[in-house]
Amino acid sequence: MKVSVSFLKYQNSKAETIQKISQTSADYIHVDIMDGLFVSQKNDDLDEFINLLKDCNKPLDIHLMVLNPLVYINKLKVLNPMFITIQAEILNPLVYIKQIKKANIKVGLAINPNTDISLLDNYLKYIDLVLIMSVNPGLGGQKFIEEVIPKIKKLKSKNVLISIDGGINDETIKLVKEDVDICVSGSYICLSDNFEKQINKLRL
Ligand code: DX5
Ligand code: ZN
Repeated sequence: MKVSVSFLKYQNSKAETIQKISQTSADYIHVDIMDGLFVSQKNDDLDEFINLLKDCNKPLDIHLMVLNPLVYINKLKVLNPMFITIQAEILNPLVYIKQIKKANIKVGLAINPNTDISLLDNYLKYIDLVLIMSVNPGLGGQKFIEEVIPKIKKLKSKNVLISIDGGINDETIKLVKEDVDICVSGSYICLSDNFEKQINKLRL
């Protein structure tokens, strides 16, 4: 299982947090971007993200919690991310799936806790990854929603990577670690005083 570290919550500064993640054995940096429309929170200053992440040594796992991903994909592709994940609930995801693939970036679809997994049926053949949201998107530091676990089981036989995002810590990871390829963890790592130690506890 790979570990993707979200820096939505941090202690001192974003820049320092990204630098500290870069010095760990984390597999990816998870970049949460919000437009104030798909979720009520907003942090979509893309130039700031590009500046912060352009020299980063870790592969990027970008999570777009936005209604219209077009501009975001076009701007963020300069970072050469490993994944760009969009939300399955937006209008016409296939348009953006194709746009991401055309940029030679692996594509993910995120699915909210209350969204039925059948929404993915028409898209599975086009995508590389499903990001199962185990909290309602928008904030770091929320409680893991156990009811999403059956979604993981349903995706197991499909040919996609399975990632889980929200409320992951050394306890909740035990509920899913046998079945996921990637776990996203934010506050458990970035609010601690030893990032590497927390990452290793997730991998145990
Ligand atoms: C939620 C974000 C998550 C979040 C994870 O809106 O998509 O990536 O930052 O943070 P924790 O691990 O604190 O739930
Ligand atoms: Zn996320």
